[in-house]
Amino acid sequence: MTDSSSASSQKPRIDTSVPHSARVWNYWLGGKDHYPVDRTVGDQVMAMFPDITRLARADRAFLGRAVRYLAGEAGIRQFLDVGTGLPTANNTHQVAQAIAPESRVVYVDNDPLVLVHARALLTSTPEGVCDYIDADLRDVDKILSTAAKTLDFTQPVALMLLGIVGQIPDSDNPQSVIKRLMEPMPSGSYLALSDGINTSETFTEAVRHYNENSANTYHLRSPEQIAGFFDGLELVEPGVVELTRWRPEATPFPDPGEVPGMCGVARKP
Ligand SMILES: C[S@@+](CC[C@H](N)C(=O)[O-])C[C@H]1O[C@@H](n2cnc3c(N)ncnc32)[C@H](O)[C@@H]1O
Repeated sequence: MTDSSSASSQKPRIDTSVPHSARVWNYWLGGKDHYPVDRTVGDQVMAMFPDITRLARADRAFLGRAVRYLAGEAGIRQFLDVGTGLPTANNTHQVAQAIAPESRVVYVDNDPLVLVHARALLTSTPEGVCDYIDADLRDVDKILSTAAKTLDFTQPVALMLLGIVGQIPDSDNPQSVIKRLMEPMPSGSYLALSDGINTSETFTEAVRHYNENSANTYHLRSPEQIAGFFDGLELVEPGVVELTRWRPEATPFPDPGEVPGMCGVARKP
């Protein structure tokens, strides 16, 4: 791990008294890395909005399809995955390296439990590289300078922002954070992004409950605001769409019902 505050030497402080986004997300995905507080708020949200587990799975299915597209058709060999989450099945490096074993992948998250489990994300093929940075999405300088030890910014990079931009409020100017992250990336780089949207009243209520009871807050945005995050980039077909509608033919999602989340992939001109 190329982290300046180094993970391996210091014991990260895990706060089990308040729910954390990475752990609740892992609970909804059917993982094992969560605590009673995470399960309690996770169950409360599920009771208010039962489709939350479908949304989480739809997001991971999009990750798989997007990375397969990027490593396959788009020929991308470098990935910067910010807001990685706890290791689960089909993490970015596994999907990318199954297509191109030489793929280089840098993961970034700010959750101490993700840091503890980061070794499971560092299982690169011998031909490729995986690294993990303990950093906040808003600390663009730290992310870029540390990632540059692993990624070659003269070659295209795919920036993956799945379920993470919603974690920061408008007051932190997410648009500018995305722009700054993509600034050093050359033409032919990509942005893949997904986030929850505010079109469902029950989902909005459930997220409000989550925000009142958790360490992190999640900010649902309109479909237009999500589309705005791709400004200045060339959208890949089918554009910015509901999560299960992005190239579903690549791996048919078992349940075609829509979820309140949007996603897209776009190329830097
Ligand atoms: C909803 S999960 C999404 C995980 C994964 N990208 C996926 O799509 O399955 C959000 C992740 O973002 C991380 N996160 C939240 N706020 C963050 C921040 N400001 N900087 C870095 N990571 C953050 C959380 O720790 C969590 O792992």
